[in-house]
Amino acid sequence: MDETRGRITRDGIRIHEDADFAGMAAAGRVAAEILDMIGPLVAPGVTTEALDDFITQEVARRGVVSATIGYKGYRHASCISVNHVVCHGIPGPKMLKDGDILNIDVTVIVDGWFGDTSRMYVAGDLPRKSERLIQVTHDALMKGIEAVRPGNSFGDIGHAIQTYVEAQRMSVVRDFCGHGLGRVFHAPPNVLHYGRPGTAAVLEEGMFFTIEPMVNLGRPETKVLADDWTAVTRDKSLSAQFEHSVGVTATGCEIFTLSPAGLFHPTCGRAA
Ligand code: MF3
Ligand code: CO
Ligand code: CO
Repeated sequence: MDETRGRITRDGIRIHEDADFAGMAAAGRVAAEILDMIGPLVAPGVTTEALDDFITQEVARRGVVSATIGYKGYRHASCISVNHVVCHGIPGPKMLKDGDILNIDVTVIVDGWFGDTSRMYVAGDLPRKSERLIQVTHDALMKGIEAVRPGNSFGDIGHAIQTYVEAQRMSVVRDFCGHGLGRVFHAPPNVLHYGRPGTAAVLEEGMFFTIEPMVNLGRPETKVLADDWTAVTRDKSLSAQFEHSVGVTATGCEIFTLSPAGLFHPTCGRAA
């Protein structure tokens, strides 16, 4: 028995066992498969409520559980964040318009394990500057993931994301972060999407967490609307986000929420 596993680090981060990776992979796969199904449904005239209803039904059909319904009073199976909404957009009756970009964030619980992932979608034609924002945000997430290996620090992840985004003259949101997860939705550490190399906790094999950078075309500041959930850019600039759940392995990391169909770009998986 490896007594370094199944423990909590001095930073409060759980070190999971080898067998736990399979639980996370199963949960992550379900969340990613649901996101794979949504592309063809996103179009001008569709409401975000209709997209969330589809997700609710799909979660039920698969016999899994939504992590967000009932979480801190939240009532939906997804967060859908359109245009200048940074995160935690509440699905509603407003119709999508041509050129809208949206993040859809789904978290499911499968056999007690949490799979948390989000991607960008587009209604109709993707405007050029939105496409660039989305591409930079996805690349930023992957650069953060490339920094995940034992011995690196959480600061290295944040630094990789921040330097890449700022070199593209876009900004990283500071007010929301990734998080540890596993048999719980949100656990230590806070995974910042900015930072300095070699700072914050050191990564160890068996840590599970999300990386979920939010990138704005304008300034990084956000505010939360009166509904207490919807976070928007203060300057009304467009915002994008991608999220993966990952686990640290001996040599790097396993991404639990990769698209089984290889769909990650918003123009993949759309109706013909
Ligand atoms: N899935 C979000 C995250 O990435 C959390 C959503 S909580 C909700 O952490 F209540 F807003 F759904
Ligand atoms: Co998350
Ligand atoms: Co999420």
